[in-house]
Amino acid sequence: MNKISQFGTRYPFHPFPTGWFSVGFADDLAPGDVRPLRYFDQDMVLFRTESGKVVVTDAHCPHLGAHLGYESWVEGETIVCPFHQWRYGTNGKCVAIPFTKAIPPQAKVRVWPTVERGGMIFIWHDLNGVEPTFELPEYDESKRIPGAGFRKLHDDFGSAHPQDVFENGVDFAHFPGVHSTGRAVSDGAILTDGHRFYSPVRILPSDYAGPADTKEVGSTVETEVLGGGLSRVESRTPHAPGLTTIYYVSVTPVSADLSHYWVHQFFLRDDDCPMSEEAIEKFTQLAAQHGEVEQWSDGKIWPHKAYVDQPLLSAVDGPILKYREWYTQFHPAVA
Ligand code: FES
Ligand SMILES: [Fe+2]
Repeated sequence: MNKISQFGTRYPFHPFPTGWFSVGFADDLAPGDVRPLRYFDQDMVLFRTESGKVVVTDAHCPHLGAHLGYESWVEGETIVCPFHQWRYGTNGKCVAIPFTKAIPPQAKVRVWPTVERGGMIFIWHDLNGVEPTFELPEYDESKRIPGAGFRKLHDDFGSAHPQDVFENGVDFAHFPGVHSTGRAVSDGAILTDGHRFYSPVRILPSDYAGPADTKEVGSTVETEVLGGGLSRVESRTPHAPGLTTIYYVSVTPVSADLSHYWVHQFFLRDDDCPMSEEAIEKFTQLAAQHGEVEQWSDGKIWPHKAYVDQPLLSAVDGPILKYREWYTQFHPAVA
């Protein structure tokens, strides 16, 4: 069960799947900021131009190899290499070299497709260099409650594979024990729609001990996995009518031995939310505290678990095999 696979990991699939992967929180990157990155065994640079555009490129300047993530700076819509001040635009092309107008046509750095969603910055990764095969959907986040929720990066996450982590959403049997909730039951049809796996779950009240086919609701949790690198969760409870708790969770491989686990929790407020400002503040504060603890409850399990290729499932387990079959589309074809 624990033997190392052909990929040098505990998983029988490649460590770098295809999809959109978080590389930062949008609020942590102001115009003019530059950060070195390393993901998928590659060095990159992340920066925000003065007009606010987020850009990720390969790290090393094609001139003499300086890393564009250290000692460099943003000028307008360009990043300036610290070594001889060649400047690169948002499309990766060199647009200026000091003291000459002759710019070699091959003077460019590779640009990674990048998008901001749910307060996170995502890059597209495909091992074989295929351009994005889907866009991350936009949701109406204009009703977001400012300042509420939390965001967290765990950068000591072992080699947990994104597939293994997102399996959590359909692992109904772990909710009561790991997250101290009531029993979780499927709450409608699971939809697999190309790159999207949607699974609605109803959590029964924790003091409810009757049969599962009840109308009782502690909370509803709608989970969708979007491609190989992102899970988005929407949760509602009758205790906070008119509020939706949203989680964006992304697992980004650094190397075969290490992943980063990114999580952002925030809240949306319906126009007709009947709650008072005070009640909203109380709920969101408690939910943020609770969420910060709970998002890491199984975070302590993933880094150390084995991957059971043929799991011994019981009648109360969720559609784990269906999910795994769907996810195979994000495993790169490698010999
Ligand atoms: S190494 Fe970047 S300008 Fe020379
Ligand atoms: Fe969990």
